[in-house]
Amino acid sequence: MKKGLIAPRAFKNYSAGHPWLRADDIVERKTLPSRPSAFFYGEHWWMCSPNSYLRLRRIGPNQPGWMKNPKLTRITNADQFTAFFGDWLYAHLKQTLLTKIEKMKFAADEEKSLRWVFSENDFIPGLIVDVFGGQIMVAQLLTAPMETFWLGIKPILNDVFTEVFARAPKEFVELRTAAVRKLEELEIIDPPAMAPLKTRWNGFLWNMTPASTQKTGAYLDQRENHRHAADLARQLKCKTAWDICSYQGGFSLHLLGAGLSVTAVDQSQAALDVLCENVQLNPELNPEKLTRVHADAFEWLKAQSVAGSKADAIILDPPSFVKNRENIATASKGYVELNSYALKCVSPQGLFVSCVCSHHISTDEYKKILTESARIAGRTFTIEAFLEASPDHSPAKGFSEGRYLQAWFLVIQ
Ligand SMILES: C[S@@+](CC[C@H](N)C(=O)[O-])C[C@H]1O[C@@H](n2cnc3c(N)ncnc32)[C@H](O)[C@@H]1O
Repeated sequence: MKKGLIAPRAFKNYSAGHPWLRADDIVERKTLPSRPSAFFYGEHWWMCSPNSYLRLRRIGPNQPGWMKNPKLTRITNADQFTAFFGDWLYAHLKQTLLTKIEKMKFAADEEKSLRWVFSENDFIPGLIVDVFGGQIMVAQLLTAPMETFWLGIKPILNDVFTEVFARAPKEFVELRTAAVRKLEELEIIDPPAMAPLKTRWNGFLWNMTPASTQKTGAYLDQRENHRHAADLARQLKCKTAWDICSYQGGFSLHLLGAGLSVTAVDQSQAALDVLCENVQLNPELNPEKLTRVHADAFEWLKAQSVAGSKADAIILDPPSFVKNRENIATASKGYVELNSYALKCVSPQGLFVSCVCSHHISTDEYKKILTESARIAGRTFTIEAFLEASPDHSPAKGFSEGRYLQAWFLVIQ
């Protein structure tokens, strides 16, 4: 990109491959489209959101001059979009799906549940597509240009799915529930009611709930972390575990599978009910070893720490407390509070898995949070492992916001 086209302070990030430009990063603002569009600016195509603070999001790979067409600089409807991007999109979506399926190393009896399209990370900003059990597709639409081009993109997704899985999707659901839509002046729409899908994933049977309100229905990004927690709990000979913010039992099932007695705590009764069904679906798991607690994690953990209760393994996987950069300090206090209650309760030589889900908190910042929490709890720790999201959620090069999940595996002294 010629230096004069974007503000000097944005240039370093842009040159490193970052796919966003804010309205005030753009020098020639008068050329910007006033409606949701695809727009060629500098040396790339961008999705333009005229009502958003993030004005341009790059579409396509970070390759200067990519799909340059001297006669065409903006696209404003779905037909034009597919006429221009359709062949690329088909080939790209197919390659992305095949590569991710390979990376996930699914077991022979495992049905394919994975994140197929992860927005900017897969060069298609404003769109998330998750596949459940190789049968159901859930597409989350996040931006105004994605809504504009959706009727062109949807059939391509459908066709690629049908080719790769050798069958049409049983259901293809559109989700318009994400709060970020409000930043683009898009409406939030209740999710459609869907029957749960019984599927085998990560070694267990699950009653997954595609299109329910958390994520697109499942925390597929924690797949490796679920397994790693169970492996370490086994190695450390843990007998009891607390799965705090358990949702439908991602960690709980794996810990039960490793022979531990598990107390799962969540504020969603619906999630705890599905967790119970999930345990019952797997005859090798002993439902008597599961205790479900419908409670607020802060209050419950605080009460346990005051009472001096202990567990050999504690998993903490709360929702993100960080809404934006401005509330990092408040969020950090919340993380310290929750982590310190939990740390007090881990048995000596026990396992503590602490997860944080926000690109606003760096690994250094979270390590400081853990260190401060341990100081308050009067404990010390060694770091056994640090993992991130599953490989189907890999961040694009140069896009630090794509690294949003941290899972710290600590042994507590
Ligand atoms: C990141 S998800 C957990 C995902 C889960 N560990 C997994 O691996 O599938 C966060 C969970 O925290 C729950 N939650 C949110 N706020 C909570 C609170 N204050 N107390 C207890 N649970 C809470 C949500 O209902 C949700 O199930």
